[in-house]
Amino acid sequence: MTVNTESITIKQQLKGRDFLTLADYSADEIAYLLELAAQLKEQRKQGNPEQPLQGKTLGMIFEKSSTRTRVSFESGVYQLGGTGLFLSTSDIQLGRGEPISDTAQVLSGYLDGIMIRTFSQSEVEELAKYASIPVINGLTDSYHPCQVLADMQTIIELKGTLQGVKVAYIGDGNNMAHSLMIGAAKMGMDIRIAAPAGYQPDPAITEQAKSFASGNNIVVTESPVEAVKDADIVYTDVWASMGQESEQQQREKAFAGFQVNTDLLAYAKPDVSFLHCLPAHRGEEVTAEVIDGEQSAVFQEAENRLHAQKALMTALMG
Ligand code: CP
Ligand code: NVA
Repeated sequence: MTVNTESITIKQQLKGRDFLTLADYSADEIAYLLELAAQLKEQRKQGNPEQPLQGKTLGMIFEKSSTRTRVSFESGVYQLGGTGLFLSTSDIQLGRGEPISDTAQVLSGYLDGIMIRTFSQSEVEELAKYASIPVINGLTDSYHPCQVLADMQTIIELKGTLQGVKVAYIGDGNNMAHSLMIGAAKMGMDIRIAAPAGYQPDPAITEQAKSFASGNNIVVTESPVEAVKDADIVYTDVWASMGQESEQQQREKAFAGFQVNTDLLAYAKPDVSFLHCLPAHRGEEVTAEVIDGEQSAVFQEAENRLHAQKALMTALMG
């Protein structure tokens, strides 16, 4: 799909919008963001970046830990000429019970955008409902759309396209699996999710993703081998997400056959690439041999968080 980043229509469509899930964005809008991300990456290499967010401030609310999301948003907004404010819920009144609706209206008077990482998607939706400025989902228990924007940028760099690319996701049917399914469905990738019974993606989200797919396949299976066969991309994530630490042991048992290792990767295409949103647990969901091996593109993927989110902030807040 070719997109013109000078397109006035798409620019107008995106300005002021929230980014809560990829489900709310059309294929054209996602393609525009990915093209802009590629341009911003190139501009940064050339050392002549534009600064469309001069004088603007992004508030970043974190109720969960973060390395990549925090640092890429904060440095990204700075590179675009603006400022990022780190707001831990243990420091702001939200963490002491101030209503989200009040927080949203107060922050809308000070800021130009809010990024939030929290537990429930409904909190992010509530924030967006009452805020008059763009709200960006920096991860909930349900979705991680910023990660998938960066993942798609990485897949384009690795495979030259998204259309027809076969992605295998092995492991927990979690926020990553959900956003990957939606992104794949929208952008014409085939995706096969292999997860053990009891840990498969939310059926409602799987159905939603299928409703966006046209010709491309979305398959959920319990067989990692079936998922990985002939895959261009093999993706995994932690077995216990943030907030599920107490389930670690139980999950290690449930996911025992779902490790991405060289034996499993052998079923994929010879030029398969390995992706992981990070942080990773070597020896659990992936072996060190795979994540530190030649097929791994995880650090390219992590870097692209910066470029993809700069595109997002430019489009929404610029
Ligand atoms: N992938 C990702 O979101 O990483 P952080 O939890 O470090 O932000
Ligand atoms: N599924 C993981 C992703 C971390 C970026 C979590 O929610 O903890």
